[in-house]
Amino acid sequence: MAEILALGISHYPPLSGKDDRMAGILKRMLRNPDLPEHLRTPSGWPAEMRAEWGIDEGTASAARHRSALVGWMEKTRAALDDFNPDFVLIWGDDQYENFREDIIPPYCISAYEKFAFSPPVDNVWGETDKTYEVPGHRAAAKLLATRLLEAGFDTAYAYKPLHHELGHAFTNAVFYLDYARRGFPYPIVPFAVNCYGRKVVSQRGGVPRFDTAGAAAELDPPAPAPWRLFDLGAATARILAESPYRVALLASSGWSHAFLTGKNHFLWPDTPADRAMYEALRSANYKAWRGYSGQSVEDSGQQEILNWMCLAGALSALDRAPKETGFVDTWIFNSSKAFLIAPP
Ligand SMILES: [Fe+2]
Repeated sequence: MAEILALGISHYPPLSGKDDRMAGILKRMLRNPDLPEHLRTPSGWPAEMRAEWGIDEGTASAARHRSALVGWMEKTRAALDDFNPDFVLIWGDDQYENFREDIIPPYCISAYEKFAFSPPVDNVWGETDKTYEVPGHRAAAKLLATRLLEAGFDTAYAYKPLHHELGHAFTNAVFYLDYARRGFPYPIVPFAVNCYGRKVVSQRGGVPRFDTAGAAAELDPPAPAPWRLFDLGAATARILAESPYRVALLASSGWSHAFLTGKNHFLWPDTPADRAMYEALRSANYKAWRGYSGQSVEDSGQQEILNWMCLAGALSALDRAPKETGFVDTWIFNSSKAFLIAPP
């Protein structure tokens, strides 16, 4: 009989690197030629930010940040192991990986037979030639695509990668849920979402480009509307609740990103906006989530929260409140990270 476990984690890329490089994105944003002069050095920063930067450019804080994140990853992994799913469906952003100039779908289900991918170079695990081989679940992916299309959700699907073996939202989810390197035995169904919208091609789904070509780039059309992704997540949960499978639904992403938050000069994330969303999620106020506008998402650099919009829709459809949630904030490590565990 079908059962659903709902989970949310971050896929923060610098977690796979070493502590002295964890503030790398901030260091890059400090090279913005348009950055106001007073923000170029810590003396002009908010006091909390200066404290987190400390006297070692954030290295000691990075160890604390890592320990908080890894603690939540372990907790999430324990919930996953307790549940023992037939597969893990992962909502994650495609940052100019398979969504490129030749096609930008609103979202796409990967119905592959299997996935093979490696950790980035110079990683924290000291792995130099390791390849992860994780099975897909084509039958379940096809069933989900079929039922979504029948329900009026025009989902794209794919049987093989277009440009990139597997996006970082999915690979990092596996690397971090297996942070202790005990192995990852569950098949995955990556469900990629065009979270970056206006910046998916123009900014290559990444940090702002400060060169003339990048600065002059015309924005793309927007991401799918938040309410539509909420409804997509709800429909996904309803369909899978009637399927023969035990499914873990996993949202993989940080929330507000400094490098997407223009009002903070790309230096720190919009933590107050994230906290408001976190409180709504914690109290199962899903109406607040569905009512959140695409404009608010962009203004607060919360493009990646759209993955969690699918998760919020799923929780709403399942009429389920989270059992455990966590919020890890930061000034210097680019993004707020949220965690959620909602067992059946
Ligand atoms: Fe991402």
